[in-house]
Amino acid sequence: MAAAAGDGATRRKTACVTGGSGYIASALIKMLLEKGYAVKTTVRNPDDAEKNAHLKALAALGPLEVFRADLSEEGSFDHAVAGCDYAFLVAAPVALMPENPEAYSVSKVLVEKAACAFAEENGVSLVTVCPAVTVGEAPAANDLTSVGTILSLLSGDDAYAGALEHIERATGSIPMVHIDDVCRAEIFVAEEEAASGRYIVCGLNPTVVEIARFLAAKYPQYKVNTDRYAPMSWPWFRDFPEKPRVCISSAKLVKEGFEYKYNNLDGIYGSVVEYGRALGILPY
Ligand SMILES: NC(=O)c1ccc[n+]([C@@H]2O[C@H](COP(=O)([O-])OP(=O)(O)OC[C@H]3O[C@@H](n4cnc5c(N)ncnc54)[C@H](OP(=O)(O)O)[C@@H]3O)[C@@H](O)[C@H]2O)c1
Repeated sequence: MAAAAGDGATRRKTACVTGGSGYIASALIKMLLEKGYAVKTTVRNPDDAEKNAHLKALAALGPLEVFRADLSEEGSFDHAVAGCDYAFLVAAPVALMPENPEAYSVSKVLVEKAACAFAEENGVSLVTVCPAVTVGEAPAANDLTSVGTILSLLSGDDAYAGALEHIERATGSIPMVHIDDVCRAEIFVAEEEAASGRYIVCGLNPTVVEIARFLAAKYPQYKVNTDRYAPMSWPWFRDFPEKPRVCISSAKLVKEGFEYKYNNLDGIYGSVVEYGRALGILPY
């Protein structure tokens, strides 16, 4: 980072990360603290000791302040962002399986448009980071959004597996990225003065068929149902191709100098199975 932890000559930079009880935010807070930032984070309920236990542990890595803030309360983030060099706006209601399957995607577009309009009106420099389905271990040990989905073929959770299949139907593949690469990309575009506009962060575009085969071979103890995608299966499942119809590109980010650490299924799934066991999503 530009300024290391202060010795008088250099100033420790301060970053606000909203939604510190969440999956991606908790990993981003950890990475920022490890890089020498002072971090301010927000949660809706600072008194929830169980949900915020990881924040208490992360405070051992560096200066970490926790504020109460709710997106539905105008001005409630003002204290947390005041005086910060960067604000990472990560808090958002995430519903991967709403009644209307398009609702989540539409909400993301509307939020991004509103943020861009606000930034332009108020002279704020805004860069948008759009991660693919995020995979990997994080400090937060709550019921986490994408973790249940990407582990669904191992856990046998049909509802989450349906959410995974919906992503492939809607997108043409399962665009994936490791959580470390998401956090590294967030910090990369924040620190890079020339960064502007929006950046897609996607390390890999496998199909659900490729993921099912990979997991079945690597974790035979979980009995992945690869027959679900076999040519003789129900018509509903038969239309899953071997190879992606569409690959999401993050060429803009790479062209500007970002390097992915994880770009294959082995690396991306890495320690997430162990994490899923610790969260109770998978049996030991
Ligand atoms: N995980 C992925 O694969 C993925 C992929 C692409 C984009 N994203 C985006 O990345 C962001 C974080 O996702 P995530 O997976 O880390 O989700 P998450 O674990 O559910 O975290 C979301 C956070 O937002 C907070 N939040 C929800 N409603 C709020 C409100 N009204 N006011 C203030 N805070 C609120 C939650 O706080 P509480 O603890 O108070 O509920 C939670 O800490 C979201 O914008 C999501 O759409 C995620």
